[in-house]
Amino acid sequence: MPLNADTLIDTAQALMAPGKGILAMDESLGTCNRRFAQVGIDPTEENRRRYRELLVTTPGLAAHISGAILFEETLYQHTAGGVAFPEVLRDAGIVVGIKVDAGAQPLAAFPGERITEGLDGLRERLKAYAAQGARFAKWRAVLTITEQLPSGFAIHANAQALARYAALCQEAGIVPIVEPEILMDGDHSLARCQAVTSEVLQHVFEQLHQHRILLEGMILKPNMVLPGQDSAVTAPLEAVAQATVDCFRRKVPAAVAGIAFLSGGQSSTLATAHLNAMHQGAPLPWPLTFSYGRALQDDALHLWAGDDNQVEAAQRALVQRARCNGAAAQGHYHPSMEQ
Ligand code: 13P
Repeated sequence: MPLNADTLIDTAQALMAPGKGILAMDESLGTCNRRFAQVGIDPTEENRRRYRELLVTTPGLAAHISGAILFEETLYQHTAGGVAFPEVLRDAGIVVGIKVDAGAQPLAAFPGERITEGLDGLRERLKAYAAQGARFAKWRAVLTITEQLPSGFAIHANAQALARYAALCQEAGIVPIVEPEILMDGDHSLARCQAVTSEVLQHVFEQLHQHRILLEGMILKPNMVLPGQDSAVTAPLEAVAQATVDCFRRKVPAAVAGIAFLSGGQSSTLATAHLNAMHQGAPLPWPLTFSYGRALQDDALHLWAGDDNQVEAAQRALVQRARCNGAAAQGHYHPSMEQ
Protein backbone atom coordinates (compact mmCIF):
# COMPACT_ATOMS: atom_id res chain seq x y z
CA MET A 1 0.00 0.00 0.00
CA PRO A 2 1.31 3.51 -0.72
CA LEU A 3 2.00 5.61 2.39
CA ASN A 4 -0.86 7.93 1.53
CA ALA A 5 -3.44 5.24 0.73
CA ASP A 6 -6.13 6.87 2.87
CA THR A 7 -5.76 10.20 1.10
CA LEU A 8 -5.90 8.52 -2.31
CA ILE A 9 -9.01 6.54 -1.41
CA ASP A 10 -10.77 9.59 0.06
CA THR A 11 -10.09 11.66 -3.05
CA ALA A 12 -11.11 8.88 -5.43
CA GLN A 13 -14.36 8.33 -3.55
CA ALA A 14 -15.13 12.06 -3.52
CA LEU A 15 -14.67 12.11 -7.29
CA MET A 16 -17.03 9.17 -7.70
CA ALA A 17 -19.79 10.59 -5.46
CA PRO A 18 -23.23 9.31 -6.55
CA GLY A 19 -24.95 11.44 -9.18
CA LYS A 20 -21.79 13.38 -9.99
CA GLY A 21 -19.08 13.25 -12.64
CA ILE A 22 -15.93 15.04 -13.73
CA LEU A 23 -15.67 18.12 -15.94
CA ALA A 24 -12.76 17.66 -18.37
CA MET A 25 -11.68 21.24 -19.15
CA ASP A 26 -8.03 20.39 -19.73
CA GLU A 27 -7.81 21.05 -23.47
CA SER A 28 -4.19 21.68 -24.41
CA LEU A 29 -3.33 25.01 -26.07
CA GLY A 30 -3.69 23.54 -29.55
CA THR A 31 -7.00 21.80 -28.87
CA CYS A 32 -8.51 24.76 -27.03
CA ASN A 33 -7.49 27.14 -29.80
CA ARG A 34 -8.95 24.81 -32.44
CA ARG A 35 -12.29 24.72 -30.60
CA PHE A 36 -12.16 28.54 -30.26
CA ALA A 37 -11.54 28.89 -34.01
CA GLN A 38 -14.76 26.95 -34.72
CA VAL A 39 -16.77 29.67 -32.96
CA GLY A 40 -14.65 32.63 -34.03
CA ILE A 41 -12.74 33.32 -30.80
CA ASP A 42 -9.14 34.57 -31.03
CA PRO A 43 -6.61 32.07 -29.62
CA THR A 44 -5.20 34.29 -26.87
CA GLU A 45 -4.23 33.46 -23.31
CA GLU A 46 -6.74 36.07 -22.09
CA ASN A 47 -9.60 34.46 -24.03
CA ARG A 48 -8.71 31.04 -22.64
CA ARG A 49 -8.71 32.63 -19.17
CA ARG A 50 -12.10 34.27 -19.76
CA TYR A 51 -13.60 31.02 -20.95
CA ARG A 52 -12.21 28.99 -18.07
CA GLU A 53 -13.46 31.65 -15.63
CA LEU A 54 -16.93 31.19 -17.10
CA LEU A 55 -16.69 27.43 -16.50
CA VAL A 56 -15.29 27.42 -12.95
CA THR A 57 -17.59 30.18 -11.67
CA THR A 58 -20.78 28.52 -12.95
CA PRO A 59 -23.37 28.75 -10.15
CA GLY A 60 -24.59 25.37 -8.95
CA LEU A 61 -21.94 23.42 -10.86
CA ALA A 62 -20.99 21.31 -7.82
CA ALA A 63 -24.46 19.74 -7.65
CA HIS A 64 -23.41 17.35 -10.42
CA ILE A 65 -19.67 17.91 -10.87
CA SER A 66 -17.28 16.36 -8.34
CA GLY A 67 -13.98 17.34 -9.95
CA ALA A 68 -12.55 19.47 -12.76
CA ILE A 69 -9.46 18.58 -14.78
CA LEU A 70 -7.43 21.69 -15.64
CA PHE A 71 -4.69 22.33 -18.18
CA GLU A 72 -1.44 23.55 -16.61
CA GLU A 73 -1.99 27.13 -17.83
CA THR A 74 -5.40 27.21 -16.11
CA LEU A 75 -4.02 25.91 -12.81
CA TYR A 76 -2.05 29.16 -12.49
CA GLN A 77 -4.70 31.58 -13.82
CA HIS A 78 -7.07 33.80 -11.81
CA THR A 79 -10.55 35.25 -12.16
CA ALA A 80 -10.83 38.88 -13.26
CA GLY A 81 -11.28 39.58 -9.55
CA GLY A 82 -7.92 37.97 -8.76
CA VAL A 83 -8.94 34.63 -7.23
CA ALA A 84 -6.89 31.61 -8.34
CA PHE A 85 -8.99 29.11 -10.26
CA PRO A 86 -8.09 26.19 -7.94
CA GLU A 87 -9.38 28.27 -5.03
CA VAL A 88 -12.66 29.02 -6.82
CA LEU A 89 -13.18 25.30 -7.40
CA ARG A 90 -12.20 24.29 -3.88
CA ASP A 91 -14.58 26.87 -2.39
CA ALA A 92 -17.37 25.42 -4.54
CA GLY A 93 -16.59 21.91 -3.26
CA ILE A 94 -15.08 20.70 -6.55
CA VAL A 95 -11.85 18.67 -6.46
CA VAL A 96 -9.02 20.14 -8.56
CA GLY A 97 -7.32 17.95 -11.17
CA ILE A 98 -4.52 18.50 -13.65
CA LYS A 99 -3.60 17.04 -17.04
CA VAL A 100 0.04 16.01 -16.63
CA ASP A 101 0.86 14.27 -19.91
CA ALA A 102 2.68 16.25 -22.56
CA GLY A 103 0.60 14.93 -25.43
CA ALA A 104 0.78 12.01 -27.87
CA GLN A 105 3.67 11.96 -30.35
CA PRO A 106 4.40 9.61 -33.26
CA LEU A 107 5.74 6.27 -32.00
CA ALA A 108 9.07 5.83 -33.77
CA ALA A 109 9.14 2.86 -36.17
CA PHE A 110 5.36 2.32 -35.82
CA PRO A 111 3.70 4.35 -38.58
CA GLY A 112 0.24 5.63 -37.66
CA GLU A 113 0.68 5.03 -33.93
CA ARG A 114 1.41 7.33 -31.03
CA ILE A 115 3.01 7.26 -27.61
CA THR A 116 2.16 9.74 -24.88
CA GLU A 117 5.11 11.72 -23.51
CA GLY A 118 5.68 13.51 -20.22
CA LEU A 119 7.31 11.11 -17.74
CA ASP A 120 10.63 12.98 -17.55
CA GLY A 121 10.54 15.36 -14.60
CA LEU A 122 7.01 14.27 -13.68
CA ARG A 123 7.85 13.60 -10.00
CA GLU A 124 8.91 17.25 -9.57
CA ARG A 125 5.96 18.61 -11.55
CA LEU A 126 3.53 16.61 -9.42
CA LYS A 127 4.94 18.25 -6.29
CA ALA A 128 4.38 21.68 -7.81
CA TYR A 129 0.83 20.80 -8.92
CA ALA A 130 -0.03 19.43 -5.47
CA ALA A 131 1.25 22.67 -3.90
CA GLN A 132 -1.09 24.52 -6.27
CA GLY A 133 -4.06 22.49 -5.03
CA ALA A 134 -4.27 19.55 -7.46
CA ARG A 135 -5.56 16.34 -5.85
CA PHE A 136 -5.92 14.21 -8.97
CA ALA A 137 -4.31 13.99 -12.39
CA LYS A 138 -4.93 12.68 -15.87
CA TRP A 139 -2.76 11.01 -18.52
CA ARG A 140 -4.26 10.17 -21.90
CA ALA A 141 -2.95 7.44 -24.17
CA VAL A 142 -4.32 7.37 -27.72
CA LEU A 143 -4.83 4.26 -29.83
CA THR A 144 -6.24 4.01 -33.34
CA ILE A 145 -8.16 1.13 -34.89
CA THR A 146 -7.46 0.12 -38.49
CA GLU A 147 -7.33 -3.36 -40.01
CA GLN A 148 -3.75 -3.76 -38.74
CA LEU A 149 -3.69 -1.40 -35.77
CA PRO A 150 -3.24 -1.02 -32.90
CA SER A 151 -0.05 -3.06 -32.81
CA GLY A 152 0.69 -5.11 -29.72
CA PHE A 153 3.76 -2.98 -29.16
CA ALA A 154 1.84 0.32 -29.18
CA ILE A 155 -0.62 -1.15 -26.68
CA HIS A 156 2.24 -2.33 -24.46
CA ALA A 157 4.24 0.91 -24.65
CA ASN A 158 1.21 3.06 -23.83
CA ALA A 159 0.05 0.77 -21.02
CA GLN A 160 3.50 0.89 -19.45
CA ALA A 161 3.62 4.70 -19.65
CA LEU A 162 0.16 4.93 -18.05
CA ALA A 163 1.29 2.69 -15.19
CA ARG A 164 4.55 4.61 -14.61
CA TYR A 165 2.54 7.84 -14.49
CA ALA A 166 0.01 6.30 -12.10
CA ALA A 167 2.75 5.11 -9.75
CA LEU A 168 4.33 8.58 -9.60
CA CYS A 169 0.92 10.12 -8.90
CA GLN A 170 0.16 7.77 -6.03
CA GLU A 171 3.63 8.36 -4.56
CA ALA A 172 2.73 12.09 -4.53
CA GLY A 173 -0.70 11.48 -2.95
CA ILE A 174 -2.46 12.38 -6.22
CA VAL A 175 -5.20 10.15 -7.63
CA PRO A 176 -4.32 9.09 -11.18
CA ILE A 177 -7.00 9.03 -13.85
CA VAL A 178 -5.77 6.37 -16.24
CA GLU A 179 -7.07 7.18 -19.72
CA PRO A 180 -6.48 4.70 -22.52
CA GLU A 181 -8.56 6.22 -25.34
CA ILE A 182 -9.35 4.16 -28.41
CA LEU A 183 -10.47 6.70 -30.99
CA MET A 184 -13.86 6.56 -32.72
CA ASP A 185 -12.14 7.32 -36.06
CA GLY A 186 -12.48 4.59 -38.66
CA ASP A 187 -15.06 2.26 -40.14
CA HIS A 188 -14.64 -0.63 -37.70
CA SER A 189 -17.55 -2.53 -36.18
CA LEU A 190 -18.85 -2.47 -32.61
CA ALA A 191 -17.43 -5.99 -32.16
CA ARG A 192 -13.96 -4.88 -33.29
CA CYS A 193 -14.03 -1.92 -30.91
CA GLN A 194 -14.99 -4.32 -28.12
CA ALA A 195 -12.14 -6.71 -28.98
CA VAL A 196 -9.55 -3.92 -29.09
CA THR A 197 -10.87 -2.24 -25.93
CA SER A 198 -10.70 -5.61 -24.11
CA GLU A 199 -7.12 -6.21 -25.20
CA VAL A 200 -6.03 -2.71 -24.22
CA LEU A 201 -7.69 -2.95 -20.78
CA GLN A 202 -6.04 -6.33 -20.22
CA HIS A 203 -2.58 -4.85 -20.85
CA VAL A 204 -3.28 -1.69 -18.87
CA PHE A 205 -4.33 -3.63 -15.76
CA GLU A 206 -1.37 -6.02 -16.10
CA GLN A 207 0.94 -3.01 -16.08
CA LEU A 208 -0.93 -1.31 -13.23
CA HIS A 209 -0.53 -4.51 -11.23
CA GLN A 210 3.17 -4.79 -12.00
CA HIS A 211 3.66 -1.15 -11.00
CA ARG A 212 1.93 -1.83 -7.64
CA ILE A 213 -0.92 0.62 -8.18
CA LEU A 214 -3.52 0.86 -5.43
CA LEU A 215 -6.67 0.21 -7.48
CA GLU A 216 -8.93 1.76 -4.82
CA GLY A 217 -6.99 5.00 -5.31
CA MET A 218 -7.27 5.33 -9.09
CA ILE A 219 -9.97 6.02 -11.66
CA LEU A 220 -10.21 4.56 -15.15
CA LYS A 221 -11.24 6.93 -17.96
CA PRO A 222 -11.98 4.82 -21.02
CA ASN A 223 -13.79 5.14 -24.33
CA MET A 224 -17.21 3.57 -24.64
CA VAL A 225 -17.49 0.58 -26.98
CA LEU A 226 -18.90 2.08 -30.20
CA PRO A 227 -18.81 1.34 -33.92
CA GLY A 228 -16.33 3.53 -35.85
CA GLN A 229 -17.77 6.90 -36.81
CA ASP A 230 -17.14 6.23 -40.53
CA SER A 231 -18.86 2.84 -40.40
CA ALA A 232 -22.30 4.28 -41.27
CA VAL A 233 -23.68 2.06 -38.49
CA THR A 234 -25.73 3.55 -35.67
CA ALA A 235 -25.79 0.98 -32.89
CA PRO A 236 -28.87 1.00 -30.62
CA LEU A 237 -28.29 2.46 -27.14
CA GLU A 238 -28.82 -0.96 -25.56
CA ALA A 239 -26.23 -2.59 -27.84
CA VAL A 240 -23.59 0.01 -26.94
CA ALA A 241 -24.42 -0.28 -23.25
CA GLN A 242 -24.29 -4.07 -23.31
CA ALA A 243 -21.04 -4.27 -25.29
CA THR A 244 -19.42 -1.67 -23.02
CA VAL A 245 -20.56 -3.10 -19.70
CA ASP A 246 -19.68 -6.69 -20.74
CA CYS A 247 -16.20 -5.59 -21.77
CA PHE A 248 -15.49 -3.69 -18.54
CA ARG A 249 -16.97 -6.38 -16.28
CA ARG A 250 -14.52 -8.87 -17.78
CA LYS A 251 -11.44 -6.66 -17.64
CA VAL A 252 -11.69 -4.11 -14.81
CA PRO A 253 -11.15 -5.34 -11.23
CA ALA A 254 -13.99 -4.52 -8.83
CA ALA A 255 -11.49 -2.77 -6.53
CA VAL A 256 -11.03 0.14 -8.97
CA ALA A 257 -12.55 3.27 -7.39
CA GLY A 258 -14.61 4.00 -10.46
CA ILE A 259 -14.93 4.35 -14.20
CA ALA A 260 -15.54 7.78 -15.73
CA PHE A 261 -16.05 7.74 -19.49
CA LEU A 262 -14.72 10.24 -22.01
CA SER A 263 -17.19 11.39 -24.67
CA GLY A 264 -14.75 11.08 -27.57
CA GLY A 265 -16.71 13.11 -30.14
CA GLN A 266 -20.22 11.73 -29.51
CA SER A 267 -22.97 14.34 -29.48
CA SER A 268 -23.79 15.69 -26.04
CA THR A 269 -27.17 13.99 -25.79
CA LEU A 270 -25.95 10.66 -27.16
CA ALA A 271 -23.11 10.54 -24.60
CA THR A 272 -25.74 11.10 -21.89
CA ALA A 273 -28.11 8.48 -23.28
CA HIS A 274 -25.31 5.87 -23.52
CA LEU A 275 -24.26 6.43 -19.91
CA ASN A 276 -27.86 6.16 -18.78
CA ALA A 277 -28.37 2.92 -20.73
CA MET A 278 -25.40 1.32 -18.96
CA HIS A 279 -27.26 1.70 -15.67
CA GLN A 280 -30.42 -0.12 -16.74
CA GLY A 281 -29.09 -3.66 -16.19
CA ALA A 282 -27.76 -5.64 -13.25
CA PRO A 283 -25.83 -3.76 -10.52
CA LEU A 284 -22.28 -2.85 -11.56
CA PRO A 285 -19.15 -3.66 -9.51
CA TRP A 286 -17.84 -0.05 -9.66
CA PRO A 287 -19.37 3.44 -9.79
CA LEU A 288 -19.76 4.35 -13.46
CA THR A 289 -19.97 8.02 -14.43
CA PHE A 290 -18.80 10.67 -16.90
CA SER A 291 -15.63 12.67 -17.38
CA TYR A 292 -16.70 14.52 -20.49
CA GLY A 293 -15.02 17.39 -22.26
CA ARG A 294 -16.92 18.20 -25.44
CA ALA A 295 -20.18 16.56 -24.34
CA LEU A 296 -20.34 18.91 -21.33
CA GLN A 297 -18.91 22.06 -22.88
CA ASP A 298 -20.03 22.21 -26.51
CA ASP A 299 -23.35 23.97 -25.92
CA ALA A 300 -21.78 26.43 -23.48
CA LEU A 301 -18.87 27.27 -25.78
CA HIS A 302 -21.16 27.88 -28.77
CA LEU A 303 -23.50 30.08 -26.74
CA TRP A 304 -20.67 32.11 -25.26
CA ALA A 305 -18.56 32.50 -28.42
CA GLY A 306 -16.52 35.18 -26.65
CA ASP A 307 -19.48 37.44 -25.79
CA ASP A 308 -19.61 38.64 -22.16
CA ASN A 309 -23.37 39.13 -22.46
CA GLN A 310 -23.76 35.38 -23.01
CA VAL A 311 -21.89 34.20 -19.91
CA GLU A 312 -25.02 33.38 -17.92
CA ALA A 313 -26.72 31.57 -20.82
CA ALA A 314 -23.55 29.52 -21.36
CA GLN A 315 -23.32 28.68 -17.67
CA ARG A 316 -26.96 27.54 -17.68
CA ALA A 317 -26.19 25.28 -20.66
CA LEU A 318 -23.23 23.77 -18.78
CA VAL A 319 -25.36 23.11 -15.69
CA GLN A 320 -28.04 21.54 -17.87
CA ARG A 321 -25.55 19.04 -19.35
CA ALA A 322 -24.08 18.34 -15.90
CA ARG A 323 -27.58 17.77 -14.51
CA CYS A 324 -28.58 15.37 -17.33
CA ASN A 325 -25.32 13.44 -17.01
CA GLY A 326 -25.59 13.36 -13.22
CA ALA A 327 -29.00 11.73 -13.65
CA ALA A 328 -27.61 9.35 -16.30
CA ALA A 329 -24.85 8.29 -13.90
CA GLN A 330 -27.63 6.88 -11.72
CA GLY A 331 -29.77 5.56 -14.57
CA HIS A 332 -32.41 8.25 -13.96
CA TYR A 333 -32.06 10.29 -17.16
CA HIS A 334 -35.00 10.77 -19.48
CA PRO A 335 -34.94 12.71 -22.77
CA SER A 336 -37.73 14.93 -21.41
CA MET A 337 -35.04 16.45 -19.16
CA GLU A 338 -33.66 18.15 -22.28
CA GLN A 339 -36.57 20.58 -22.45
P1 13P B 1 -14.00 14.35 -24.57
O1 13P B 1 -15.09 13.99 -23.60
O2 13P B 1 -14.29 15.56 -25.40
O3 13P B 1 -13.54 13.15 -25.37
O4 13P B 1 -12.75 14.79 -23.71
C1 13P B 1 -12.43 14.08 -22.60
C2 13P B 1 -11.00 14.15 -22.38
O5 13P B 1 -10.54 14.50 -21.33
C3 13P B 1 -10.12 13.73 -23.50
O6 13P B 1 -8.85 13.50 -23.02
